[in-house]
Amino acid sequence: MEATTSRLDPAAVGDLVLLDPLTEESLLHTLQERFRRSDIYTYIGNVVISVNPYQSLPIYSPEKVQEYHNCNFFAVKPHIYAIADDAYRSLRDRDRDQCILITGESGAGKTEASKLVMSYVAAVCSKGEDVDKVKEQLLQSNPVLEAFGNAKTVRNDNSSRFGKYMDVEFDFKGEPLGGVISNYLLEKSRIVRHVKGERNFHIFYQLLAGGSAQLLQQLKLRQDCRHYGYLNRESSSLPGVDDAANFHAMQDAMRVIGFSPDEVTALLEVTAVVLKLGNVQLSSSYQASGMESCSIAEPQELQEICELIGLDPSVLERALCSRTVKARDETVLTTLSVPQGYYGRDALAKNIYSRLFDWLVNRINTSIQVKPGKQRKVMGVLDIYGFEIFQDNGFEQFIINYCNEKLQQIFILMTLKEEQEEYVREGIQWTPVEFFDNSIICNLIENSKCGILAMLDEECLRPGVVNEDTFISKLNQLFATHKHYESKETQNAQRVMDASLPLQCFRIHHYAGKVTYNVTGFIEKNNDLLFRDLSQAMWAARHTLLHSLFPEGDPQKVSLKLPPTAGFQFKASVAMLMKNLYSKNPNYIRCIKPNETKTAMLFTPELVLAQIRYLGLMENVRVRRAGYAFRQLYGPFLERYKMLSPRTWPRWAGSDREGAEVLLAELAFPPEELAFGHTKIFIRSPRTLFNLESRRQERVVQLATLIQKIFRGWRCRTQYQQMRKSQIIISAWFRGHRQKNKYKQMKRSALIIQAYIRGWKVRKAYRRYFRSEASIRLANFIYRRLVQKFLVGLGRNLPPLLVTDRTWPPAPYKFLADANQELRSIFYRWKCKKYREQLTPQRKALLQAKLCASELFKDKKTLYSKSLQQPFRGEYLGLTQNPKYQKLHAVAKDKLVMADTVRKVNRASGKTVPHLLLLTTEHLVLADPKAAQPKTVLSLGDIRSVSVTRFSDGFLVLHLKETSTAGAKGDFLLISDHLIELVTRLHQTIMDTTAQALPLHITDQFSTRFQKGDMAVTVVESAKAGSNVPICKKRGSHKMEVLVH
Ligand SMILES: Nc1ncnc2c1ncn2[C@@H]1O[C@H](COP(=O)(O)OP(=O)(O)OP(=O)(O)O)[C@@H](O)[C@H]1O
Ligand SMILES: [Mg+2]
Repeated sequence: MEATTSRLDPAAVGDLVLLDPLTEESLLHTLQERFRRSDIYTYIGNVVISVNPYQSLPIYSPEKVQEYHNCNFFAVKPHIYAIADDAYRSLRDRDRDQCILITGESGAGKTEASKLVMSYVAAVCSKGEDVDKVKEQLLQSNPVLEAFGNAKTVRNDNSSRFGKYMDVEFDFKGEPLGGVISNYLLEKSRIVRHVKGERNFHIFYQLLAGGSAQLLQQLKLRQDCRHYGYLNRESSSLPGVDDAANFHAMQDAMRVIGFSPDEVTALLEVTAVVLKLGNVQLSSSYQASGMESCSIAEPQELQEICELIGLDPSVLERALCSRTVKARDETVLTTLSVPQGYYGRDALAKNIYSRLFDWLVNRINTSIQVKPGKQRKVMGVLDIYGFEIFQDNGFEQFIINYCNEKLQQIFILMTLKEEQEEYVREGIQWTPVEFFDNSIICNLIENSKCGILAMLDEECLRPGVVNEDTFISKLNQLFATHKHYESKETQNAQRVMDASLPLQCFRIHHYAGKVTYNVTGFIEKNNDLLFRDLSQAMWAARHTLLHSLFPEGDPQKVSLKLPPTAGFQFKASVAMLMKNLYSKNPNYIRCIKPNETKTAMLFTPELVLAQIRYLGLMENVRVRRAGYAFRQLYGPFLERYKMLSPRTWPRWAGSDREGAEVLLAELAFPPEELAFGHTKIFIRSPRTLFNLESRRQERVVQLATLIQKIFRGWRCRTQYQQMRKSQIIISAWFRGHRQKNKYKQMKRSALIIQAYIRGWKVRKAYRRYFRSEASIRLANFIYRRLVQKFLVGLGRNLPPLLVTDRTWPPAPYKFLADANQELRSIFYRWKCKKYREQLTPQRKALLQAKLCASELFKDKKTLYSKSLQQPFRGEYLGLTQNPKYQKLHAVAKDKLVMADTVRKVNRASGKTVPHLLLLTTEHLVLADPKAAQPKTVLSLGDIRSVSVTRFSDGFLVLHLKETSTAGAKGDFLLISDHLIELVTRLHQTIMDTTAQALPLHITDQFSTRFQKGDMAVTVVESAKAGSNVPICKKRGSHKMEVLVH
């Protein structure tokens, strides 16, 4: 706001385009008023006018940098930072290479402006270790180049004595990558001579003031400036300038840039050599031939120089005092006169220094150069010496002013001529603005056929004696009628009396004023020749740096071709520079010097007015006012601003121009603000453009929000729809499930209700037909019928009468289940009864015996299962048939229960002997098989118990009662093949007779009682024993083992 108001303040408008009325006086007055208010910067459109305040102002602080960072050029107070920011952003965002052209007189503030631009760009571009290093290197090139290339002049204490163009290269993000510095025409004459009150290049004073004693000793220098012929002996130091501190700063800067200590030493050694050359004194002597010759007056200095550069002093002495001339095939050594000797010495000093300066620039470039292959954008900053008018102007001023003339031409071409031509080209209605086009002056100087420089070259190359007289007469002849050329001769022709123009001079009416040049020295300076002897001497030096500066000194490479002249070289490099500048988007900073005395805040109107005139500021304002501040091709314009109208956004179907027209019509700018060219749109005032930009900014934000909004909406919608779909599926399934259950329940309930209702209805309907207990009766009747039906059916379908068949039909009704089960068991028992009834007494007895055997042995003795298949025959001996057994038969008579052969175990040895065994209802008889006579007759009452093993053997022990008389020898150990039957029958018989059960032990260990005492019988399972024949083994007198299988 403050900026806009101040810019519109009528007494001191910030943009001279807004000046009203537009006159030279008002323009001057505005600048003066602004200057008084310390507003040193003023715009003409986007050109910055800077008036040197000669005092430091608080407008370059980091806060100011921030204020101008990304500012809108037209929205902030005029400042050099604004143009730097605009250029940098245009480079970064619009991909347009930029150049910043800083012009103005010597001392107007160009170098300071260029440093401000550089430091601003460094401050606003991004940070990072690599980037900071590059930035530092770029910034630190200034103190080094200023030390070697700047000097105090009467106009400026820190005057740049060379032209400098620096290309800073950036990557696509706007980060600096490096740069290239080009230098133009160092004012080398200053090395050997300078006007009173001026100084030689700063480096000499800095070195002597700041160099340590050791360094000075190493360089063979003395600290006192007055000792050196090339230095200002009266006032070596400058007020407010600390040469020593600057020297240290310069050394630091070199370190930052990447100079090695050796390189710095070599550089200072060569600098010292230049300084010391000025002290080499020559004295004249006469040769025998009477020719004057020169010689070194004081060899000390020469000696030291040669020590520094590693050269034989005699070589340098010869090169300084004589000259080799080639005449036809001979080479002749001619001696030089003292002035010639001094001329050679000075030429050598100048050459060494200017070549050293070139080397320095190249060395810095090596450090800051960008690796090839990277895509870059370039910002060029041009700080070239300003237009100069001295009392005595020589070749240098001519060259410098030519360069300024070219820059003015660029300015005219780009801002005035090109602009006006563009209006015509684009068919914009236009009233041409008169301005001075300086091409005529440029042409006067540079025309390759008949320009002043071409003439000078021609004169230099001409065979025979050449001097400036012939040169100026040629100029006078050629440009006799030229409007911008003047000399005594042309004046005379026009009968003009002018004492200020001597004969040896010509005057050019430059765009910035008339300058009178003295042609003396033009040819020599243009030739810029160094005697070959001197360059060869330098080449011969062992000092690597110095040696490398004089490649033409190599005798192998002697060339007869003359090197290009200084004027020619300069013209070529200026042409290159112009080409370079034309390819970039120009930004102008026009520096104005407010007074001649370097006084702070002093504004000398006359001086400024002269500059306003020659800088063409009035024309600049006029064209700017009449013209349009901004133009752009329809395509890019529409692309950039199409979002400002719904008709052109997001796509415009018609031509670009129609699109731009529709767009601008909708934005309703005043018609005079716009003009539609053939290919471009023109916008008159910056304000409109600013307005357009800020609307775009707003719209971009809106569009970004819109895109975000739509995206978020879309995201939420899809998510919602997905959730909804899932929810519908889940609820459909759930509802279906619930309804199905509900339906089932309802159906069941309906059926129940239906049944009840139907029942109720039927009962109601039939109630009158029944007595009160009819239902019970009916039910009973039904039950009975059902039972009847069941029983009848059962009777018809009875299962087979086999005892082993246990099948039975199931109950047809649940209430019959218990009865059915009962019937089943009754039927089974009945079946068994029936079965039993039809058994014979023998069969019955056999079965009973089997039953008894089962009760005794089942699951107790392994032999039992084997005995199942065997029928109990009882009589195995055939007592009746075999007459041998008659006696025995008689004993048994009708009481025989069982007759069999057994093996009796001998109680003493354990051996077995066969015996016949008869079991009768009363006795158990053992008989000898051979005699068939009863041997032992045991009453059944004598048997106490029987023991058998668990295994499948036939071993048994008959334990006798102690009272038994028959068994006097003790218990009987027997082995029977029908053990199960024997024990069973024994048991049954005892049971029958005594009604007492026979105690049976089935065990592995039992004790027997013998006559000789008790014996422990142990049953041992062994493979040795047969299947049912155990082996009895006696172990000692009281132990017996029965090996069973
Ligand atoms: N913006 C500024 N603020 C304060 N002082 C300034 C400013 N610009 C220039 N000066 C002063 O003016 C002096 C001369 O400026 P500068 O060296 O930039 O001139 P120049 O145009 O480069 O001259 P030359 O053509 O001789 O090199 C500076 O040394 C400095 O003291
Ligand atoms: Mg300068």
